[in-house]
Amino acid sequence: MSSIVEKDKRFVWHPFTQHFTADDPIEIVRAEGVRLYDAEGKDYIDANSSWWVNVHGHGNEYIGKAMLDQFNAIDHIVFAGVTHPKAVELAERIVKLTPKHLQKVFFSDNGSTSVEIALKMIVQYWHNRGEKKDRFLAMHGSYHGDTFGAMSVGQRGYFNAPFEPFFFDVDYIDFPNGGNEEAILAGAKSLFETNEFAGMIIEPLVQGAAGMRMYSSQFLDKLATLAKDNGVLIIYDEVMTGFGRTGKMFATDYCEVKPDFMTMSKGLTAGVMALGLTVTSDEIYNAFLGKETTKALLHGHSFTANPISCAVACASLDLFEQETAIQGMANLEKWNYDFQLELKKFDFVTNIRQQGTILAFEIETGEGNTYFSDIKAEAYAHFMDAGILLRPLGNVIFINAPFVISKEDYKLITDSIIRFLSKGND
Ligand SMILES: Cc1ncc(COP(=O)(O)O)c(C=O)c1O
Repeated sequence: MSSIVEKDKRFVWHPFTQHFTADDPIEIVRAEGVRLYDAEGKDYIDANSSWWVNVHGHGNEYIGKAMLDQFNAIDHIVFAGVTHPKAVELAERIVKLTPKHLQKVFFSDNGSTSVEIALKMIVQYWHNRGEKKDRFLAMHGSYHGDTFGAMSVGQRGYFNAPFEPFFFDVDYIDFPNGGNEEAILAGAKSLFETNEFAGMIIEPLVQGAAGMRMYSSQFLDKLATLAKDNGVLIIYDEVMTGFGRTGKMFATDYCEVKPDFMTMSKGLTAGVMALGLTVTSDEIYNAFLGKETTKALLHGHSFTANPISCAVACASLDLFEQETAIQGMANLEKWNYDFQLELKKFDFVTNIRQQGTILAFEIETGEGNTYFSDIKAEAYAHFMDAGILLRPLGNVIFINAPFVISKEDYKLITDSIIRFLSKGND
């Protein structure tokens, strides 16, 4: 065991980890392009973009230069009573990329806080207007982060059971599964018609942590229309789906009916710096204006709009305008599509699905899709052995690689998946 791993075990507490049973962590010492290198010199393809964030690959020189330039200009600055060019540039560019009525950008530093802020904005919006609306609607299976508000609107279960007594009440609709849509919409309609609903939060088109579960924009448009008709404010949580993952810049771009809030993080900074954004309309913003300070959103973080994070996000947006990212996204879409045909040859592979650059499928285990499915550990070990960092979600295996991945490296991932599945045919 290296001294780093030994010290890690003494001093570090990792996320989502049962340290009593966990294997020793892999010591990664370098990352470049789509590859990660461990202390022993072995390399791994980053098939899930390092927790779905690293869209342009690791160590991108253009982003590195933007970081350093910003460090030399302003490293960090209080963001109350002060502004700086990169925050303003980023806000303006995000406003241009999102639906027309979304005009204001609030900065935070991760996906959970971007959601937390949208929820707080909704609660205070109704409070400031003197209207009592205190219920939220969410979807079963959703994941919106690990802060208390974000957990409250997420799927309740083993991940957050100890905290449940502290959550606020939320009504859940079922996941649309290609047969229950009309019933879900009828249920949502009668809930909304109580006039008690402040807001609704949804992962648009793809539920990430639930296992890359996908559903249609037509369903979402119908649900959003019901919400709008009944004055329920809509949050589309684009933390996972944003920045090209679904094949367009945002999943919202596939929808006719636009939300009142979009939350963003992950691909926003291409996984290089921590940053979250909550984007909303002037109508919401205006409800916080007035002579009384208490009407304002009294919320902020030390690292709000950190200049280096903002500069990196702007550089990442520049890269999205370049051929490499545009072609890379198109390549991944096509290769994912072609790979589906190969997956169909395995009769225990089910629910093969794709949304843009994300491809997912399930391995029939007879246990349903549970996060603790044995297949997860077996598959993870198989892929690590083959030099591929691919973290299944329960019995769901998915590829959401950096957009710069080459055909050869993509094939190394799919060959390894085929080898794993072929064991099941033995
Ligand atoms: C849809 C969605 N919302 C929010 C979050 C939370 O983001 P973070 O991990 O940056 O707090 C995630 C993280 O996976 C997510 O997928």
